[in-house]
Formats: sequence, structure tokens, C-alpha cells
Amino acid sequence: MILTGSGEAKTARDGRRWTVRPGRPTDGRALARLFAKVREEGRWLITTPGSVSEPSEAFWISELIRASEHLALVAEADGEAIGNLLISVDRGRATEHIGVLSICIAAEWRDVGIGSELVAGAQAWAHEKGLRKISLGVFPDNERAIAVYEHRGFVREGVRRQQYRSGDEYRDEVLMAWFPMEAEDR
Ligand SMILES: CC(C)(COP(=O)(O)OP(=O)(O)OC[C@H]1O[C@@H](n2cnc3c(N)ncnc32)[C@H](O)[C@@H]1OP(=O)(O)O)[C@@H](O)C(=O)NCCC(=O)NCCS
Repeated sequence: MILTGSGEAKTARDGRRWTVRPGRPTDGRALARLFAKVREEGRWLITTPGSVSEPSEAFWISELIRASEHLALVAEADGEAIGNLLISVDRGRATEHIGVLSICIAAEWRDVGIGSELVAGAQAWAHEKGLRKISLGVFPDNERAIAVYEHRGFVREGVRRQQYRSGDEYRDEVLMAWFPMEAEDR
């Protein structure tokens, strides 16, 4: 994936057009809105609806994009953010070889290949940057996300049982990782 500021044109599996480009600090508000909408679904993300303020999340995203060591990809259609992938890279000496991946696609744009494309783009970036590991956590019942990660070569590292509280429920977290230096398909 070769990315320019204005975005690379793509066609989704259902024929709709979208673009992908690197994030800009000014994307903070649009991405915070996207996260809030996905959070409202109440199923996929660790944080619960209303638990994160949109302005503070927008600020955090803008700062992350401003810092050059991380990756932010923005998927757009008709000028609207419809997807986002972030890889944040730790600054600590012991963990600066690891990027932590998070991804969100707007509900009406799922299952048409966008998430897989963003993950593939992130893998190319991680390899180029010389990272040794991309890690993430996912709820065990998020079968679609797990399918995407496994199709892209991520492996399961383990399960943290009852890691997150969600209302009265305690949810497990599956830990997954991809190792750029060991990957044949990147
Ligand atoms: C998870 C997510 C990022 C995937 O992105 P996407 O654009 O919907 O995924 P894609 O269209 O690229 O691929 C979906 C794949 O999952 C498969 N799939 C869909 N539902 C599935 C299910 N219930 N079980 C197994 N596989 C499933 C599809 O068949 C497809 O595989 P294919 O490419 O071999 O046909 C996106 O759905 C999303 O943002 N979900 C809500 C937020 C979220 O869960 N984020 C991740 C938190 S860890």
C-alpha cells in the first residue's frame, strides 16, 4: 500500500468506492466520533458507551497522530471517516519493538474488505519500520475480527480470563500477535 496525503482509491467488495490515507492531526474529532458510534454498539470495544469524552479522545488521537513513531490510517468515503487503524509504539527501551494495533470500521461499511486492507497496510508499515511484533487484544466472541487477524497471519498467544468488566459480566480477552520478521506474506 503506497499512501499519499490525498488517499489511495479503493473499491469495496460490494462496488462502493473508498480511499485510504495517513491520518492527520485534524482527524481527531472525526475519528473520536467514529469510535463513539462503534462504542455505542456495546459489544466490540473495552470501553463502554459514554465512558470516554469525545473531546478528550479527539485530543488524544490528534496527539498520537502528531507523534511520528505511530501509525494512523484513515478510510474515507464521500469525505467522511468510515474506518481507522492505529498502531501505537511504546517508547520504553524494553518494549519499543512492539506496536499495539486497534481498528474500527463503521457498521455500514463492514464485511466488504476494508478492515483486511487496513491491517495489510499496517503490516507493510510495521515491516518497513523494523518492528518485531504487532500485538492486540480481542473479545473471544468477536469472530469477524479474529477471522481478519487470522487471515492476515496473526496467531493466538493466550487468553486473559475475566480481564474486563462490562456491566455485571466479566469478559475474557484473547491476545493475538503478528511477527513481521518471521512473516513470508507481507
Ligand atoms: C473487526 C473489523 C475491524 C473487521 O473489518 P471489516 O472491514 O468488517 O472486515 P473485512 O470485510 O475485511 O473481513 C471480514 C472477514 O470476516 C469474516 N467474517 C465475518 N463475520 C464472521 C463471523 N461471524 N465468523 C467468522 N468470520 C466472519 C468475513 O467472511 C470476512 O472474511 P473474508 O475476507 O475471508 O471473506 C470491523 O468489522 C469492525 O470495526 N468491527 C467493530 C469494531 C471491532 O470489532 N474492532 C476490533 C476490536 S479488537
